[in-house]
Amino acid sequence: MTIATLTPDAITFVCTMVRERSAIELEASKSYLIEARLLPLAKQNGFASTNEFIQGVRVKRQPELERKLVEAMTTNETSFYRDTHPFTALRTTILPEMCQLREAKKALNIWSAACSTGQELYSVAMLIREHFSNLNTWNVHLVGTDLSEEVLSRARAGKFSQIEVNRGLPAPLLLKYFEREGMTWQIKPEIRSNTSFTKLNLIERWPPLPRMDIVFLRNVLIYFSPDTKREILRKVRQIMSPHAVLFLGAAETTIGLDTSFERVEVSQSVFYRLK
Ligand SMILES: C[S@@+](CC[C@H](N)C(=O)[O-])C[C@H]1O[C@@H](n2cnc3c(N)ncnc32)[C@H](O)[C@@H]1O
Repeated sequence: MTIATLTPDAITFVCTMVRERSAIELEASKSYLIEARLLPLAKQNGFASTNEFIQGVRVKRQPELERKLVEAMTTNETSFYRDTHPFTALRTTILPEMCQLREAKKALNIWSAACSTGQELYSVAMLIREHFSNLNTWNVHLVGTDLSEEVLSRARAGKFSQIEVNRGLPAPLLLKYFEREGMTWQIKPEIRSNTSFTKLNLIERWPPLPRMDIVFLRNVLIYFSPDTKREILRKVRQIMSPHAVLFLGAAETTIGLDTSFERVEVSQSVFYRLK
């Protein structure tokens, strides 16, 4: 396997394909990033270099190989209880309020859009199990979606490495809700059973979704252009129930993009509600 500098043509091809399929805006100047992400895929598929792999994708027009290329260029960084504060706000303010508001229906829909390998959704599931035993008899749906089939299959499996469980997961929760299986930790069925993980590309037509009460759309808008962010926020607000809350990543905001949202600050956390 030779490591050669990517040709400008190869870089343009990758940037265009990734933008068209995912809306992710790659910086052509970061060719080392493209090289690093695609090299393992090139190897797996028997190509002698990343340039040749890209050329192969170009010529062969194989949907499976194209999908793998796009997925390899996504950033799947995540962790349990990432940024802490949103989960504190959920425990101290949002879920107690939701319990009152939805008491009649006894139903709650929570969505982790761009869920990556599932730590965000499983964090919410454990939080509910720990602090809201009254919800045991409710219809609580925890839905995780992502563009990448690779991360979704990992999320569904609910198996995490030692490094992954060391990031953000308090030891008592690890011991209570996971079982050790050799080098990995398997999340227990009691947590996994009311979660589901489905493919949803935020820039394509969405499958039917229920009205959502709590939406996590964190650390994904940062990769998109302002127009794409606007369009996704428009679609998100259409499926939010009255009083629903939206969490964005620490570097993201609706401000300057969508005036229908108001910014709320609770427990050092920021979330958004429809005005
Ligand atoms: C950095 S991770 C964020 C994970 C989690 N939300 C968090 O904050 O920890 C971004 C995720 O967005 C997904 N993604 C990127 N573009 C997407 C798109 N167009 N539609 C759906 N998911 C997308 C990636 O596959 C990746 O798993």
